[in-house]
This record gives sequence, C-alpha cells and structure tokens, in this order.
Amino acid sequence: MHNILIIGFGIVGQNLYNEIKDLEPDVVDKYKPLVNTIKNIKYDVGFICVDTPMNNGILDISEVENCLNEYDCDIYCIKSTCPVGTVEKLINKTNKRIIFSPEYYGNTKHCNNYEFNFTILGGDKKDCDDVIQILMHCYDARHLFRIVEPKLAELVKFMENSFLATKVSFCQSFYEICEKEKLNYSELRELFILDPRVNKSHTFVYEETPYWNSHCLNKDVPSIANQYNNLFLQNVIKFNNEQKGMISIDKWTELREWIEKYYKDHSAGWIDDTENDRYCVAISCEDLLEKMKKLEEKLGK
Ligand SMILES: NC(=O)c1ccc[n+]([C@@H]2O[C@H](COP(=O)([O-])OP(=O)(O)OC[C@H]3O[C@@H](n4cnc5c(N)ncnc54)[C@H](O)[C@@H]3O)[C@@H](O)[C@H]2O)c1
Repeated sequence: MHNILIIGFGIVGQNLYNEIKDLEPDVVDKYKPLVNTIKNIKYDVGFICVDTPMNNGILDISEVENCLNEYDCDIYCIKSTCPVGTVEKLINKTNKRIIFSPEYYGNTKHCNNYEFNFTILGGDKKDCDDVIQILMHCYDARHLFRIVEPKLAELVKFMENSFLATKVSFCQSFYEICEKEKLNYSELRELFILDPRVNKSHTFVYEETPYWNSHCLNKDVPSIANQYNNLFLQNVIKFNNEQKGMISIDKWTELREWIEKYYKDHSAGWIDDTENDRYCVAISCEDLLEKMKKLEEKLGK
C-alpha cells in the first residue's frame, strides 16, 4: 500500500479524494485544519490541489511553492493550474521530483457530467511512471495515461479553458445575430449541433448572463493571454467584458486618468457634482482610486 497525501481540500482536492479513495489518501489543508489526517511520515506522492489566484495578471503559485516546503513527499504531482514553465522552474529551484497533471473537475454542471477517462502527466518519465503505477489501482484498463513534457501538460489546461471561453463567446455572437434577424437562437443552436463535427458543450446562451464568468475561466484565460501577449485571447476577453456590460480597457484607462487628474486639480480630492440636477455625486477620489485598483487586481488588469 502506498502513502498518498492530498494537499488542499477545496473543489479539486475533494473531487480527487473521491476519485482515488481506494488508495485511502490522507488530507492536509492549511486553512481547514479540521479535515487534516496528515501523519508524520514521508508520503510517496503528494497531490497539490491548492489555489493559484490571479496576481498582477498571472497565476500566483506561491501556495504551490509553500507546499513543496511544508509537506514531505517523494513525488509532488501538481493538480493546481500553473503558468507554463512552472514545473521546470520549481525543479531547478528545489531539485525535487515534481510533475504536473491538469485537472478537469469543475464546480458547474458544464464540467461534472462528463467522464474524463484519461490522465495527462507532464514531467520526468520515471516520475510519471511511478505515479501511474499507483493511480492504476483506482481505474480499470479503459483509463488512458499520457506522459508528456511538462510544458505541454501545463499548456493544454489553458488551451482547454480558452477554447471553452471562446466557444461561449462565439455562440453569444450568433445569439446577437439572431436577435437582429428576429430568429430563435435555440433553433439555430440545434441545427448547428446536428453537424457531427460540432460538440454540444458550451453552446447554450443564457439571456440574463450572455457571457462566461467562472472561477477558472476568469483567471486562466487572462493569465495565458498575458503570459504570451496573445492578441486573439485578449480580444476574446475584451468581447466578454463588453458582454458583461463592463467598461472596455481603453475606456477604463481614460476614466482612471480623468480621476487622477481631477484628484490633482482639486485639493479636496472629492468629485462633487451637486449642480447637476439629475444626480448628485460626492465621492472621495482616493476611495474611488483604491476601489479601482482592487477591481483591476481582481480582473487581472
Ligand atoms: N475548481 C475547479 O473546478 C478547478 C478545475 C481545474 C483546475 N483547478 C485549479 O486547481 C487549483 C485548486 O482549485 P480549487 O477550486 O480546488 O481551489 P479551492 O480554493 O476550492 O481550494 C484550494 C484549497 O487549498 C487550501 N490551501 C491553500 N494553500 C495551502 C497550503 N499551503 N497547504 C494546504 N492547503 C492549502 C485552501 O485552504 C483551499 O481549501 C487551482 O489552481 C485551480 O485553478 C480548479
């Protein structure tokens, strides 16, 4: 029997626990100590499932790095989504056995009703093989294991999420065409998916929310667009932000510059529009700039 540790017991950690429960994994979560079953041993494999939030436009791997120091494992298998090049960088830094395996769980019906009968492992062949030997106990022989170089495994996760986001935006743009032509998008969609080359997933358009807005897409798509300054994906994000009724990046910059100038020009630092008979705005520029900064960080701008 192998000693397995699941590190981070959020959505991915809990789903992974259920998937590999035949291995009787232990669990550790730094911020949810009640779930901890970790023992004082060296684990054969530690599956890292901690969060990688957006920070300055790119995914922040500091909790992943913490795990490498905080928990003693022979092999670390990172399930958290990380920027391309992370495994290479962390191996160079720590000299530990580290591999990456993209995760496909989700917290919506759009991800969870599919059977993912494959596992991709990116890293040193021997390290990946050792993990496969353990994981084989959880599946039957229909399960496929693919060993690739780490950058490919890291990149495919971003490719998947970017593709799904693009597909949602694409369908929404045809919804808009339908609106202009007074045609029914649901009927159009059903004709579209008759073509066997078109997969049905992510083709619904919700009238009240005609945009993508999920925990993972919101951080992963901007992160890969920023890492490679990718114009196509930047446009997908721009379209989505406009669908959300959000201000475009150009207009945002213009607004920010206007507030900063107003702040400098008016020593009190208040935007005061009491003379306007339709509305009255009296707001501290300082507060507004602070709020904009927080929002920019959240959006990864
Ligand atoms: N949620 C999904 O559907 C999904 C799908 C695929 C990939 N991912 C990726 O997987 C990662 C985890 O996502 P999630 O949704 O499960 O996040 P989550 O926020 O639900 O869970 C992360 C957990 O890790 C814990 N944690 C943080 N630092 C820790 C540390 N040093 N030691 C131990 N525990 C620690 C947190 O307390 C939290 O419970 C992210 O990189 C995400 O992008 C998520």
